[in-house]
Amino acid sequence: MLQGSDRSGMCDRPIGVFDSGIGGLTVAQEITRLLPNEQIVYFGDTARVPYGTKSRESVIRFSKDNMNVLLKYGVKVVVIACNTSTSWALGVIRKEYAVPVIGVIEPGSRRAVEVTQSGRIGVIATQSTVASGKYAGTIQRMLPRARVVSRPCPLFVPLVEEGWIDGKVTESVAEEYLAPVRRERVDTLILGCTHYPLLKPVIQKVMGKGVTLVDSATETAREVKALLESKGLSRKSTRPPRHEFLVSDEPEHFRILAKRFLGHDLVSVRRVDHV
Ligand code: DGL
Repeated sequence: MLQGSDRSGMCDRPIGVFDSGIGGLTVAQEITRLLPNEQIVYFGDTARVPYGTKSRESVIRFSKDNMNVLLKYGVKVVVIACNTSTSWALGVIRKEYAVPVIGVIEPGSRRAVEVTQSGRIGVIATQSTVASGKYAGTIQRMLPRARVVSRPCPLFVPLVEEGWIDGKVTESVAEEYLAPVRRERVDTLILGCTHYPLLKPVIQKVMGKGVTLVDSATETAREVKALLESKGLSRKSTRPPRHEFLVSDEPEHFRILAKRFLGHDLVSVRRVDHV
């Protein structure tokens, strides 16, 4: 049990966030917006992205490797900013690691259940997330009358990783994937992959204005805030936070894309190895 000065040392540790690549920055950004005094260590497993086409076993192994990287930085809490990792690895990780861990599926589902009127909820995600059935199960538990339509959109991740967030190709891929979801007359669509919010304008255009897009970033950031407050772990230091960005492959591509998406330069992006 931490006490006295140890506990205040714990408060000033960073929040760890990991994703398979760049998508988790959407979650990290919301955390810094809601909790501007917190420090973040972000790890993007760019050497092994995408996770969404990989097996459960591989995703669990990669996720544990990512946990081990972040723990070396003394993180006080970990956010799994990847739906695929959350789908397969959250339960295992919570059992095996002492540090509190938050995933993105519960927060996103909660938000969708709050905003839907008709109970017809679409979920777009990676193949692996859809195959896990985690969203459908979570939503149905929260709102038994819900009708959930799930659709994998595997090409969205490479489009985002390439920076193709708009234009003809992206729009026609979106039309192809989303037309069947639109036909199901959903009033709410969960962007069940942390890469997808970067395609929001295209997805909204294809789905139409009447459909509310839900991404889990805001809701997940709220959950982080509540957790830190309930555990007395909010950062006390008045020094400006310094965020760190780590990747498992060369940092340059990540840096360029991050700048495009976030609109500002990341102060430091470094390559680190898993072991
Ligand atoms: N960002 C990840 C997610 O939320 C998926 C991208 C990938 O396939 O690695 O599922």
